[in-house]
Amino acid sequence: MQRTLILLKPDCFQRRLLGRIITRFEDKGLNFVALKLLHITPKLAKEHYAEHVEKAWYPTLEAFITGGPVVAGVLEGLEAIAVVREMLGATSGIKAAPGTIRGDFSSSRQMNLVHGSDGEEAAHREIALYFKPEEIVANTPAIATWMRAADE
Ligand code: CDP
Ligand code: MG
Repeated sequence: MQRTLILLKPDCFQRRLLGRIITRFEDKGLNFVALKLLHITPKLAKEHYAEHVEKAWYPTLEAFITGGPVVAGVLEGLEAIAVVREMLGATSGIKAAPGTIRGDFSSSRQMNLVHGSDGEEAAHREIALYFKPEEIVANTPAIATWMRAADE
């Protein structure tokens, strides 16, 4: 089992797409173990996007990601990090394949609706940025026995 951080970005909130995007993750069989609404501060934005802070486009990214409420969540599942990244599609909504979240809902390089951790180290770091250990609610959905075989 693997855990990954997702952010439903301010464009997702403002466009009232939260429910439809959350439904896609639920439909896939991923399991929420944490979920909350928050406003990202410039400080948190710089921590989250530390690898991008020096880029020319970072100031506009910070303005965007701090510009409205976001939903942060932790999803759990088999290979959840790669599964979520595949579901998101390419970074730019213009390039993302139809059928992916960004491909279906975004026509922007920046306003691409959802963040997903890009590896195990990032997932670990990002989950700790948004959630205290006691905010993670381990749970096994009743339907789990009908979502995959016992030995998977
Ligand atoms: O989110 P992802 O890992 O797919 O992309 P990234 O290259 O790590 O970039 C992080 C985020 O910065 C993207 O999801 C976009 O919202 C934003 N971005 C941007 O505003 N302008 C760019 N030229 C590239 C990315
Ligand atoms: Mg990235």
